[in-house]
Amino acid sequence: MKPFDVAFHHATPHGVMSAIHIPDSPDPVPEEVLARLPAEEAAHARTLKGYRQPSFVGGRLALRRACEQLGHQVPPILPDARGTPVLPGTLSGSVSHKRDLAIGMVGSSVHGTLGVDLEDYGPARLGIADSVLRPEELSAIAPLPDARRWIAILVRFSLKESVYKALDPHVRRYVGFHEAFVEPDLQGGARIALHLANAEGPFTAEGRYDWLHGRLVTSVRLRRA
Ligand SMILES: CC(C)(COP(=O)(O)OP(=O)(O)OC[C@H]1O[C@@H](n2cnc3c(N)ncnc32)[C@H](O)[C@@H]1OP(=O)(O)O)[C@@H](O)C(=O)NCCC(=O)NCCS
Repeated sequence: MKPFDVAFHHATPHGVMSAIHIPDSPDPVPEEVLARLPAEEAAHARTLKGYRQPSFVGGRLALRRACEQLGHQVPPILPDARGTPVLPGTLSGSVSHKRDLAIGMVGSSVHGTLGVDLEDYGPARLGIADSVLRPEELSAIAPLPDARRWIAILVRFSLKESVYKALDPHVRRYVGFHEAFVEPDLQGGARIALHLANAEGPFTAEGRYDWLHGRLVTSVRLRRA
């Protein structure tokens, strides 16, 4: 396992995903790794401090590999003013990272904007439920035993982070966790209903979740209804 090498590729109904190993260290990314990025992306990376630099570089390498899987060589992928990675108009993409892994997912923009999120399984933080879940979501998970309840909270939390990323290019504001209802099914899909405080939209959104290499990956595809 070499830092900044591909960890795995994965095809999903929302797009193709590539994962890149990143070093769990705040050390500057070596110049030979930055050289794998277009000059503008490398220049942006050099402005980032500590862990942000390797995570940004890992995310951009992942996005670029995912684009290649779809047969696209894309120009520099820079963040917009709110942090969304900007891809050419025919593509939608999203990034997520944990300390040692970055993922990038890319799909066709015909199907809408994309949001992706990566989560470790543990440690369980049952206490986040009240701030992340709506009352009807809390009722749905209340009867579950503790171990299953944590998974139920984590999947919903992650789906909401994915909602946030897919939705941000449309609404361009902070969206709270209570502004989305998510209901995972048992087949890796999830129903999503938005309750947007500013009544933007309407939007249609669909969610997916998957356990890959011991981690949770969720994605959301969202477009104007
Ligand atoms: C913005 C947020 C979702 C990012 O998630 P995170 O767990 O902190 O970090 P991740 O590693 O998963 O994602 C970071 C990536 O998200 C992307 N991103 C950042 N801001 C974004 C935005 N406003 N819109 C879309 N994507 C964004 C970037 O690609 C970033 O990586 P990069 O800077 O290397 O390109 C999170 O910080 C946040 O603010 N969450 C609270 C709001 C929320 O989730 N509400 C739920 C609504 S239903």
